[in-house]
Amino acid sequence: MSEPLLHLTDVGFAWPGQPALLDIPAFSLARGETLFLHGPSGSGKTTLLGLLGGVHRADRGSIRLLGCELGGLSSAARDRFRADHSGYLFQQFNLLPFLAVRDNVTLPCRFSRLRAERARQRHAGVTQAATELLRRLGLPDDLHARRASSLSIGQQQRVAAARALIGQPELVIADEPTSALDADSREAFINLLFEECRAAQASLLFVSHDRSLAPLFDRSLSLLDLNRAARLPEIR
Ligand SMILES: Nc1ncnc2c1ncn2[C@@H]1O[C@H](COP(=O)(O)OP(=O)(O)OP(=O)(O)O)[C@@H](O)[C@H]1O
Ligand SMILES: [Mg+2]
Repeated sequence: MSEPLLHLTDVGFAWPGQPALLDIPAFSLARGETLFLHGPSGSGKTTLLGLLGGVHRADRGSIRLLGCELGGLSSAARDRFRADHSGYLFQQFNLLPFLAVRDNVTLPCRFSRLRAERARQRHAGVTQAATELLRRLGLPDDLHARRASSLSIGQQQRVAAARALIGQPELVIADEPTSALDADSREAFINLLFEECRAAQASLLFVSHDRSLAPLFDRSLSLLDLNRAARLPEIR
């Protein structure tokens, strides 16, 4: 009935001077859905996330997020749209090491007025929103003023999750965020992420090659099945 949060039609992409990497006839993500996307190293998972986030531009096809055609936006408008509506969680966390934990978390609200407003609506202020999120993700208050680089890997990962979630972006994109963790903390972290996405009514697109995580998600997909370009070598 309602339009999916994200919908791709006939999306093609190649890195300059390289053969087609992605040729995706159709792909959708529903509102509030948690999706596990797997595929071998080099199959194009991170590249696809870059297209969805508007970091790279597709060579052809349509990418609609919240009913908005990303290819129709100027690059400045695409950056703004991305900052407003998507939160990112990366393998290396990409925290600013010398910045305090809490300032790392509030960073997206500096780039997005919408997310700052949403954070303020639910809390006394943006900093308060960061504090609440960090607490819910299990990071004790005495760590919030510390430099991000002084935290353990597992703690930094929670900071990165809080940063992705602040101001309730509709789409949370996670690229191998658990690869630095042992199996037990991995599952615990994913469950926390689910809880927070649910609370914010966000959809989660989670990429990993660790397929043991797949059963935790609403749906699991292989990029190889989505992507016609990956099947070409077998046809020849
Ligand atoms: N900035 C870039 N410029 C040129 N080629 C690139 C660039 N980034 C990735 N590629 C190429 O695109 C292909 C897919 O890379 P990508 O990082 O999307 O794979 P992946 O599925 O995320 O792999 P992994 O599981 O190892 O993270 C690879 O062949 C890679 O060399
Ligand atoms: Mg990758």
